[in-house]
Amino acid sequence: MSWVSDYRYTWLESTTMQVLRACGHIPHHVAFVMDGNRRFARSQQIDKIEGHSRGFAKLADCLRWCLDIGVREVTTFAFSIENFKRSSEEVEGLFNLAREKFARLLEETERLNEHGIRIRIIGNIGLLPQDLQKLVATAMLSTEQNDKLFLNVAFAYTSRDEITQAVETVLRHSSDDLRPEDINERLMEECLYTRHSPPPDLVFRTSGETRLSDFMMWQLSTSVLYFSNVLWPQITFWHFLASILAYQRDRWQLDDFRRSERLQSLQLAKSHDFYSERMQKFLAIIDEDRRKLLVRLAAN
Ligand code: FPP
Ligand code: MG
Repeated sequence: MSWVSDYRYTWLESTTMQVLRACGHIPHHVAFVMDGNRRFARSQQIDKIEGHSRGFAKLADCLRWCLDIGVREVTTFAFSIENFKRSSEEVEGLFNLAREKFARLLEETERLNEHGIRIRIIGNIGLLPQDLQKLVATAMLSTEQNDKLFLNVAFAYTSRDEITQAVETVLRHSSDDLRPEDINERLMEECLYTRHSPPPDLVFRTSGETRLSDFMMWQLSTSVLYFSNVLWPQITFWHFLASILAYQRDRWQLDDFRRSERLQSLQLAKSHDFYSERMQKFLAIIDEDRRKLLVRLAAN
């Protein structure tokens, strides 16, 4: 199973998609919390890992739908740091699935390049087995020139860890590159894994759970949250369109918050000299350090 599926639309599906595209605003960034794989596996009397594998197949469909409808950034919660508490058999099974999928991704980079898809792993890569670190680093480097659709795979991720890592980054640079007065929300945001992404416009969580589960808690303050009872491996194009419709209905209520957040962030940036040469140098150092780490991991 490839990362972008060859989903074939029915006439009704493609017509409805065109209508939604023509009549309403399409979210720029959609985040998926793919929940319910094991309940699906139990209901079908198949192995848990087969449930996760079917979940991956749905992710590939979702990517196709997102590409076709005009979503430009997708973030997907594939492995929480909390998932390390699951049985070693399941954790190893999920890692094997990731090994298989990332190896496949490297075989099909040409296809991803054709679609202009850039893969970014957001999470604490250092917590992963070494061979997987190498695979994900190589995947990120080999698609880094693409800019049509960004796919952020949250792997070994929790928000609390992301924020902790951001604090660590700030502290590491506090004696040379930063001054105490530089530290503010805007700076923290720039130290998150998602530093180059706008916040999600829409979050879609499946399986009837209405929690955020430590996912992008910093980034979701003005996102439309959409919860569906469907189990992730059973998600269909119609569920996806229903979430887009809910976004089109609810975004108006959030537009004012968004505007005022953006304004606040701009004001903060201005009042804290955020556009100074010194700060730009610091941001360039973050990017450089992150890229150097990837190059090192890929070479291991
Ligand atoms: C949540 O369902 C799903 C996960 C913990 C794993 C999701 C992973 C995939 C779909 C594969 C993605 C792989 C790559 C390489 C991107 P659950 O296990 O919590 O199921 P439950 O809620 O029914 O217990
Ligand atoms: Mg679950």
